[in-house]
Amino acid sequence: MAQTQTGSSSSTPANNDNWKASLRPPPKDLRPQTEDVTATKGTEFEDMFLRRELLMGIFEAGFERPSPIQEEAIPIALTKRDVLARAKNGTGKTAAFVIPSLQQIDITKPKIQALLLVPTRELALQTSQVCKILGKHMGIQVMVTTGGTTLKDDILRLSESVHVLVGTPGRILDLAGKNVADLSECPVFVMDEADKLLSPEFTPVMEQLLSYLPSDRQVMLFSATFPMIVKDFKEKHMNSPHEINLMDELTLRGVTQYYAFVEERQKVHCLNTLFSKLQINQSIIFCNSTNRVELLAKKITELGYSCFYSHAKMLQSHRNRVFHDFRNGVCRNLVCSDLLTRGIDIQAVNVVINFDFPKSSETYLHRIGRSGRFGHLGLAINLVTYDDRFNLYKIEQELGTEIQPIPHSIDRSLYVAPSGSDEEKPAPQKQAQQKQVAAAPAAGPAHPPSQAQAAPQQQQAVYQSNGQPQQQARQNGTPRGGTPNAYRGGAPAARA
Ligand SMILES: Nc1ncnc2c1ncn2[C@@H]1O[C@H](COP(=O)(O)OP(=O)(O)OP(=O)(O)O)[C@@H](O)[C@H]1O
Ligand SMILES: [Mg+2]
Repeated sequence: MAQTQTGSSSSTPANNDNWKASLRPPPKDLRPQTEDVTATKGTEFEDMFLRRELLMGIFEAGFERPSPIQEEAIPIALTKRDVLARAKNGTGKTAAFVIPSLQQIDITKPKIQALLLVPTRELALQTSQVCKILGKHMGIQVMVTTGGTTLKDDILRLSESVHVLVGTPGRILDLAGKNVADLSECPVFVMDEADKLLSPEFTPVMEQLLSYLPSDRQVMLFSATFPMIVKDFKEKHMNSPHEINLMDELTLRGVTQYYAFVEERQKVHCLNTLFSKLQINQSIIFCNSTNRVELLAKKITELGYSCFYSHAKMLQSHRNRVFHDFRNGVCRNLVCSDLLTRGIDIQAVNVVINFDFPKSSETYLHRIGRSGRFGHLGLAINLVTYDDRFNLYKIEQELGTEIQPIPHSIDRSLYVAPSGSDEEKPAPQKQAQQKQVAAAPAAGPAHPPSQAQAAPQQQQAVYQSNGQPQQQARQNGTPRGGTPNAYRGGAPAARA
């Protein structure tokens, strides 16, 4: 699949002294933000010697000042030095590599000058969109290419000018191998979610791809997680990279994490309780297998709530439709596999639910990072069974975080931005049911969630319960707290 962007530089007053006043940024996002994005040294985008047309795109995207990772990475990346950067989820890594990549493009040269690699097709679409938005006034040509689409379309598109190529590794290798994508003069090579791209399934492809680029290319790796796997690649393919690590703590300050200790058969009941009590603006619900995604989506629909679902075994056109529509607020809940764990940025998502608890701390971190974007508030709820107890302990240890037992009532101020009038409050989910599970939603929304910015709240969600949270050591693998019965349904959950 190929999508292109023609810049609109002709219509913009780039040389006008009053250029900033002529821009149309989106309405200000007045939600509170945590230090994850506000703790900067005070650098401004205008201090970075960026092209006027690029600055215009940045300000029109609503970016007022750089986030910590942007402040650290952009100036170094502009010197063409290799960069290895680690920063928390949702803190603006995409723009941290897109801005220096765009700045280096010579639009008079009809060649691919930046190759941006990501591990999933949805993330490729999203990243190419960021390039188009930030490069809106530059006249650059952005192309996105992924598996699951017609190769012929890509070949046709590449016969025209492309400056920035965004995509998943397999398809790009295919195009480079066929001499259709000419990377021989591409000076910028970026790997987003680099640790994922260097997992065994991708590494050989990445190494082959690099061989198509000139030897003096700039290599930039970004992720929130960098297991040891990256070390080999760094030593072999990077030239004394500038390393940035903004993760002295790992989890996001704005995301409150809870677990509910349940039996497997109580999970759907628990989810039902959560749906009825929480003020969900939009939620992402993760399952550990494709099969369970579909089964759960069906159950949720039977309960009378609307949801979409997505996983890697679906047709690409359906996946795209779900992603597009969920992003546009067509449906409040999305059930998915780890396909959408990394990088996906939907500002309206304020609740993430691990219906199945993940196996690794990396997966856990990326999943819960789908809420609390750009320092905003979010809630992560984990349904934990007896079999998950060691994993829960391990993940807490590895991330240096404490996942608290779910309380009887969850203070809304923890995950819903304070604001405006009651009219803006999202309606309770059941009022607007969509009886059909939509893998490829054909119909309109049950009811669009309000924008995250508009989500208000005064009340607290109160849960019926006859249990009190208990503090217990978890070293033996036993979750510390009791889970209120309202979440469990049926017989009380077995506890070790
Ligand atoms: N300087 C900025 N000012 C305001 N908003 C910004 C700024 N930079 C990025 N954002 C917004 O922050 C959100 C998160 O950015 P992004 O997706 O790049 O995060 P990330 O660090 O890549 O997260 P992840 O690790 O989950 O991939 C996006 O909606 C983006 O538009
Ligand atoms: Mg990202």
